[in-house]
Amino acid sequence: MTYTTLLTEEQGAVGLIRLNRPAVLNALNDTLMDELGHALTAFEQQAEIRVIVLTGSDKAFAAGADIAAMRDLSFMQAYQTDFITRNWETLKRIRKPVLAAVAGFALGGGCELAMMCDVIYAADNAKFGQPEVKLGVLPGAGGTQRLPRAVGKAKAMDLCFTGRMLTAQEAEQAGLVARLFPAAELLPETLKIAQQMAAYPLQTLMMIKESIQRAYELPLQEGLLYERRLFQACFATHDQKEGMSAFLEKRPAQFKHE
Ligand code: CAA
Repeated sequence: MTYTTLLTEEQGAVGLIRLNRPAVLNALNDTLMDELGHALTAFEQQAEIRVIVLTGSDKAFAAGADIAAMRDLSFMQAYQTDFITRNWETLKRIRKPVLAAVAGFALGGGCELAMMCDVIYAADNAKFGQPEVKLGVLPGAGGTQRLPRAVGKAKAMDLCFTGRMLTAQEAEQAGLVARLFPAAELLPETLKIAQQMAAYPLQTLMMIKESIQRAYELPLQEGLLYERRLFQACFATHDQKEGMSAFLEKRPAQFKHE
């Protein structure tokens, strides 16, 4: 499939999606979001792909929702088309790990898109922010909900009230970013991490994702019970027997992802 706003490629068990609207710093419009939903679903359905990496350019992961496409929207158009967020649910439904590799600007919807991913790896030139207040709107794709969960209320309020940008270093210290890399190494390092993950049993990665997601949605006791049942279910898999046998026999594991 050829896209107009994305580039996709496969590197072994890793599916790479690059946002590609360079003239507008990868601003998110409906075409991009529809194509992103399609590309994610295609990798989700492709058995050989076990981990997905989402990235932008050196200058921008994404500078937010497309302001030119948004300016003249009426409430009814925004409401009926679910502008920008209409494919957010697709991203939420992806069960394989999705890693964001963020260089440059991740602002507004771009920051929100990165936060929809399971992990954010960032270049040392990355800048995160929710500048919507400057445009007379509030973050509309999860910023007011996911940012406080990621960085706490104080920083989330500060960022959303002022529209200021968080440096990569500050974002890492605040817990928004998992690891920082020099800009030139961001994508190779993220792909290396993705390959490392993809060598582990896919069903275990999926269970980890499901379980950690529930840490934000369930009361602790329910989350712990959910985790325990998934842990017990692992004993029905080939890969649990293989992983533990390989450890005890001091040899590399041969996982079958089943
Ligand atoms: N939408 C549309 N076009 C955008 C854009 C956006 N979000 N961000 C950048 N562009 C365009 C610029 O208009 C410019 O186009 P021209 O060359 O035709 O003039 C081009 O991309 C390059 O941008 P700049 O010249 O501004 O580049 P810069 O390096 O000087 O500044 C920047 C970079 C600080 C990111 C600046 O472009 C900027 O502030 N962009 C807007 C960021 C923003 O407000 N994002 C939030 C959008 S609202 C939102 O996302 C709502 C939501 O929650 C869903």
